[in-house]
Amino acid sequence: MFERKPMVAGNWKMNLNLNGAVELVKTVADGIRGVEGVDVLVAPPFTHMAHVRKAIGNSKIFLSGQNMHWEASGAYTGEISGRMLQEATCTHVILGHSERRLIFGETSENIDLKVKAATFLGLIPIVCIGETLEQREADQTFEVIKEQLDLSLHNFKADELMRPSTILAYEPVWAIGTGRTATPGQAQEVHRFIREWIEKNFNTGTAAQVRILYGGSVKPENIVDLMSKPDIDGALVGGASLKGDSFAQIIRYNEA
Ligand code: PGA
Repeated sequence: MFERKPMVAGNWKMNLNLNGAVELVKTVADGIRGVEGVDVLVAPPFTHMAHVRKAIGNSKIFLSGQNMHWEASGAYTGEISGRMLQEATCTHVILGHSERRLIFGETSENIDLKVKAATFLGLIPIVCIGETLEQREADQTFEVIKEQLDLSLHNFKADELMRPSTILAYEPVWAIGTGRTATPGQAQEVHRFIREWIEKNFNTGTAAQVRILYGGSVKPENIVDLMSKPDIDGALVGGASLKGDSFAQIIRYNEA
């Protein structure tokens, strides 16, 4: 069986002042010294990026944007391009986070354009999908996930090619910032569904290699159980990534 390297990613959202961001990443770097076999990533606010990069020094922490525009440049006030993220030494970009979809009205069609643009540049997209509580309670979870995948990865489907380095993140909206985590069983069921979708639309090899992260109230107390599931390849962490010690504990989940 193909061994997928786990990833623990911290989405800092619109939090932390510059000093706080630099201190946090230093604490994380200290806290993960000697850790191997887990990819670690942080997604700071754009304006903190250069300082966070400097503070990372030689430690192995990937930098990610939290969003980007699909065009390379132009009259798009308030936006950032993929190339700009790369110039800021980002290797990854989070796309389609539910806060972007729900608060800022991003559609799966927008996200598809962003995924295409990021991939073209060689930026690795972390594409987020997930159902709302209403949709889960109406038994629409799989339908919603399938539609988000079909539309957000439409260009991949048209090209019949999905790079195995692409990362997906299943983040049930009802579990984000609520303290209410999906049970490992609930998460595994959706992760399995996503992997089968990749297999159906691309091929078995790609499905075996693409990492699917779980996000939604991940903390040191629940990471071990989540990671015990075969299709959960890591975590996209919000709140608990803002504290260096708890984030490092999540990254060190296999030492628990
Ligand atoms: P949370 O956020 O860990 O605070 O629930 C997760 C996310 O939004 O990526």
